[in-house]
Amino acid sequence: MSNWNHKHIIDLSKFSLDDYKTVLELTTRFQDVSTTRSRKLPALQGRLITTLFFESSTRTRSSFELAAKRLSADVQNFSVATSSLSKGETPLDTILTYIAMGADILIIRHDSTNVPNDLAQYIDDNKINTSILNAGDGFHSHPSQGLLDLFTLASFFNPNNPSPESLLNKKITIVGDILHSRVARSNLWSLTGCGADVTLCGPKSLLPDEFSDFVLNPPPGQKNDPITHRGSITINRSLKDALRGSDAVMTLRLQKERMHQNMLTDLDTYHKNYGITHDRLKWCEKKVPVLHPGPVNRGIEISSQILEDDSISLIKNQVSNGIPTRMSLLYLLANRNIADPS
Ligand code: CP
Repeated sequence: MSNWNHKHIIDLSKFSLDDYKTVLELTTRFQDVSTTRSRKLPALQGRLITTLFFESSTRTRSSFELAAKRLSADVQNFSVATSSLSKGETPLDTILTYIAMGADILIIRHDSTNVPNDLAQYIDDNKINTSILNAGDGFHSHPSQGLLDLFTLASFFNPNNPSPESLLNKKITIVGDILHSRVARSNLWSLTGCGADVTLCGPKSLLPDEFSDFVLNPPPGQKNDPITHRGSITINRSLKDALRGSDAVMTLRLQKERMHQNMLTDLDTYHKNYGITHDRLKWCEKKVPVLHPGPVNRGIEISSQILEDDSISLIKNQVSNGIPTRMSLLYLLANRNIADPS
């Protein structure tokens, strides 16, 4: 297992092939912990992990908490509703309070893009040892979701050895509200990073043409792309054409809370054009799995029948794989440069 050099995990644009390999290998090993009698490892005993969710969550917060507990860490959960934010304390002062209590890793979700990045910068400028793990910031990034999706797909294509190579030359089609999706952005980095070719499908209002260039320019402050040979990104606005030849389909929630103007004519038309159903999956020309990060709008981006069809839907796998994936990320951040739990 290679060394791990990331102090913070903000997005996946800086991840190398070795980083993906390390996460997938470790996740495979941690997956077995849930089948042991104690369901726990002592790996992070004495470490303090704090979840700071300024935006709502079901899956991510709970699975980070469970992942930390499975590694025997102490866990603190911050709740906006019962915090001193209501007395006028600023988010930064709130965060500094948790750092003063000794948090080794702060897992943060915020509806504003760049809050985790700005916080990591503040921490580094002030020589603080705490790691920041982004659990979703605005439209920008949701790295743990991108990595659990990667593990789910790699496990589907290669159950005995889920590795980055499992994704090489696979055609993955992502359908829906790409514009507002931090999950789509994270998946674009990870899937192309492992050599998959991604097709994006959606209306122009939710999928601007610029997305075809998404990975071509490294983000501000980053000189080089750590991946030398990325897979391609193609936009195809016809669902029938986009699905043809796909190896897997990922559909995304319509994020109505992030739409500032009326970006859709109506939901029935959206479902008719972009909703994933058994009938439309026939356009793939073979049986393919369907992923969705959740939460789901049943009957809009995906039919209830697909959701309940365990021979097609990998959504339950995504949820359960979230725990070992997040165990890996916590383990790697807490043990930078000594990455071996055995
Ligand atoms: N996929 C995801 O981020 O779900 P939650 O908002 O429930 O955490």
